[in-house]
Amino acid sequence: MSEGLVTVSYIAATVLFILSLGGLSNPETSRRGNYYGIAAMTIAILATVLGPKVTSLWPILITMALGGGIGWYAAHRVQMTEMPELVALMHSLVGLAAVLIGYATFFDTSVHFEGVEKTIHEVEIYIGILIGAVTFSGSVVAFGKLSGKIGGKPLLLPGRHYLNLVALLAVIFFGNLFLNADSGWGGTLCLLIMTGISLVFGIHMVMAIGGADMPVVVSMLNSYSGWAASATGFMLGNDLLIVVGALVGSSGAILSYIMCRAMNRNFLSVIAGGFGTGTGTATASEGPQGEVQPISAEDTAELLRNASKIILVPGYGMAVAQAQHTVFEITKLLRERGVDVHFAIHPVAGRMPGHMNVLLAEAKVPYDIVAEMDEINLEFPETDVTMVIGANDIVNPAAQDDPNSPIAGMPVLEVWKARTSIVMKRSMASGYAGVDNPLFYKDNNRMLFGDAKKMLDEVLVALRAG
Ligand code: TAP
Repeated sequence: MSEGLVTVSYIAATVLFILSLGGLSNPETSRRGNYYGIAAMTIAILATVLGPKVTSLWPILITMALGGGIGWYAAHRVQMTEMPELVALMHSLVGLAAVLIGYATFFDTSVHFEGVEKTIHEVEIYIGILIGAVTFSGSVVAFGKLSGKIGGKPLLLPGRHYLNLVALLAVIFFGNLFLNADSGWGGTLCLLIMTGISLVFGIHMVMAIGGADMPVVVSMLNSYSGWAASATGFMLGNDLLIVVGALVGSSGAILSYIMCRAMNRNFLSVIAGGFGTGTGTATASEGPQGEVQPISAEDTAELLRNASKIILVPGYGMAVAQAQHTVFEITKLLRERGVDVHFAIHPVAGRMPGHMNVLLAEAKVPYDIVAEMDEINLEFPETDVTMVIGANDIVNPAAQDDPNSPIAGMPVLEVWKARTSIVMKRSMASGYAGVDNPLFYKDNNRMLFGDAKKMLDEVLVALRAG
């Protein structure tokens, strides 16, 4: 393939990647967005592999088959609830690739630059390895935290901000030495020291962040991995990689911002760490005590049958129980009987952005009855029954009422404003943020204890019988 054809293919791939991102911003167009992305990636790989820069195809084909095989296996094996861990692990690979390509480019004797060009090339290598190393070690720790292999409690070393500052100054110092070093051992040593510092910095940065802020960290690492890919593009002189890396970097940054807003957290305070000390295992005894009013599946069905407007609020527990199909069966039945049923989606419901949308789409719930938080919050006061299916933090009134709550200020779905709310969960355990939920003790709230799938199956049977 000629250089010209490669350039044209890269432009086509860039346009398709942009269309893909546009498509992914809405559940209705996300399938199309995925197809655009697949087409773009196929064109990008073909143009690169068949381009004039590649002299030997076999090593590429073998490693692609190996990597593709591992990716295929991992994607098939992973549970939907383990997706964030997989994503974190994938980010770590992008970081590792940037580090390895940085070193390979540095040791490559076939390229010679002089003067300003040499300096620019070395800056690219230095920054590429720096971002790659931080992304790699940060993502590995994020994987450990999300999968529970490392505790969710933030590690707060004394004077940690000063430690970070010293690391930054050291990186600048060795960067300066690197640019002035000869291409022999001096430069290699500077690179190795900087890589070590960056790896430690990545570990320290993510270790300092508590469980409740992990979603933002994952999308922040997503952004870093984009910038690492972009830096790799500069090192390799590959325009497509630069553009696509920048797309991933900036969309990850925007997503982090949106999630911070949804959790009412300031981006800088998330990065500074220290929030969210629990892993979601705290029990009610640590929070407000009170009487809860349990309800049976039959009585729940009775309430639903007599309602004219219902809002369903899915959360992480629905994903765990894989209850989305039964939820849809119930929705269909109620709608056939003339009941107005809507779903309310909180931006950080579940364990990754869009988690609930994906599950509801999988169960074929029509998009027009799925509403975002801002539009649906106004409707709770006119609702007869809200049914909370395995959600907890996102419906916690303490976020509004208790200024001392760790989730104070986080926007929540105001389910308690409905005539009756029903919370479906297995126990009184707290949610991801590890805080108790006063909703459970409210007079108009009922608790339907049990696995969401099992309880909803029972509700469905009772509804059909009625
Ligand atoms: P959570 O607050 O984590 O609550 C989920 C609830 O589901 C738990 O209290 C649990 O109670 C219940 N549950 C678990 N398995 C169940 C099952 N099989 N059947 C019935 N219930 C079950 O979830 P949420 O309300 O969706 O809020 C999301 C939280 O996760 C937020 O704090 C958010 O910041 C955080 N987070 C979000 C993301 C993104 S990007 N969405 C990523 C990471 C973390 P029981 O144990 O008593 O059943």
